[in-house]
Amino acid sequence: MNILILGSGGREHTFAWKIAQSSKCKKLFVAPGNSGTAKIAKNIPISVTNFEAIKTVVIENDIDMVVVGPEDPLVKGIHDFFLNDETIKNVAVIGPQKAAAQLEGSKEFAKEFMYRHNIPTAAYKSFNATTIEAGYAFLETLKPPYVLKADGLAAGKGVVILNHIEEAKAELKKMLVDSKFGAASSKVVIEEFLEGIELSCFVLTDGKHYKILPTAKDYKRIGEGDTGLNTGGMGAISPVPFANETFLNKIEERIVKPTIKGLQKDNLPYKGFVFIGIIKVGDDPKIIEYNVRMGDPETEVVLPRLKNDLVDLFKAIANQSLNTLEIEIDERAATTVMLVSGGYPEAYEKGKIITGTEKIKESIVFHAGAQIKGDTIVTSGGRVMAVTSYGTTYKEALKKSYQNIEKLHFDKINYRKDIGFDL
Ligand code: AMP
Ligand code: GLY
Repeated sequence: MNILILGSGGREHTFAWKIAQSSKCKKLFVAPGNSGTAKIAKNIPISVTNFEAIKTVVIENDIDMVVVGPEDPLVKGIHDFFLNDETIKNVAVIGPQKAAAQLEGSKEFAKEFMYRHNIPTAAYKSFNATTIEAGYAFLETLKPPYVLKADGLAAGKGVVILNHIEEAKAELKKMLVDSKFGAASSKVVIEEFLEGIELSCFVLTDGKHYKILPTAKDYKRIGEGDTGLNTGGMGAISPVPFANETFLNKIEERIVKPTIKGLQKDNLPYKGFVFIGIIKVGDDPKIIEYNVRMGDPETEVVLPRLKNDLVDLFKAIANQSLNTLEIEIDERAATTVMLVSGGYPEAYEKGKIITGTEKIKESIVFHAGAQIKGDTIVTSGGRVMAVTSYGTTYKEALKKSYQNIEKLHFDKINYRKDIGFDL
């Protein structure tokens, strides 16, 4: 079959790398893609939210399956767009329909879903500009730190955690009254702070059945020791060493099963990945958030550990026969370290020439914000490349990633040297 992947990050390069290994994939396209996907697929320079342009590409290239990388097109309803169009309604789309994508598109919707289905999560209330006084009063009932979340999509920046009540009240006003995150913060969820260590759980579902993929832990802060500003993710490890069998069983029974059942009960059509952000509070898992896609850079460690043909899994999702397949996992650990542009996640320069990728043999280099320019590869984003390695232990894998990074160069390169420090 012919397959189109939507997106341009390390996650999408990893999807392309994995799908390119399948004998079931005839032609592979990525829109818009990057320098990494250009080597194994055909890049098409269109935006992931330009549905009409995507439709044209699908028809012209006889595409049978569209794999949606980022959340934006899902929340905007790309799956429904396909289903509602006679000419492309039989194309398999991997990603939930709009109603279900609200699990990521609206924090309030997600919290209501968790409560309705008794899925353990932090206590919360939500507020808008007309109920801001009640919001202040609710903050008074909580202990610090205070967690404020813009309801809508805010490019990963919509969660603010503050230590002082006055700061929290001022932030609530900025979000609700001064539109700090635009329409995304016209509603704000305030929730109880959960103390614990985080991990990510990934589930594939066809809407009826589910399969759990390996866990991963990502490192979101720019600075070593988890300090400084939040980023899209600076590195990841899979599996998560502290997630033992007992804990994983709790996640499956208390979170995954009620989530999949809840989707069915609420008539939320879902064919794709559910990314569940979890925090381990004592010995118990609580859910922090749903994302309706794979994580980035978690994909760069989860997919390399998946032995199955990914196209088989996607076909089973499309025709709701996921129950007929078994997931096979590589026992080895995988780690990835993200190379970023100096200055990121604040202002940074682009267009820096990247050298050394051809010298790397023992690691896999997944390109993210990198593009081909003439005979060179240049930086085009904040997160530039993810260097993934396998090892018997995560420490061994990390050592390999760090050794190989030494061979890669671009001006003002930056990366965290302490991935896994807390494990
Ligand atoms: P999110 O965008 O929902 O993933 O939130 C960003 C980050 O904020 C998470 O990865 C957590 O580190 C933190 N966070 C979110 N909600 C809570 C909470 N209720 N308690 C503690 N930390 C939280
Ligand atoms: N690495 C976190 C995310 O993809 O949202």
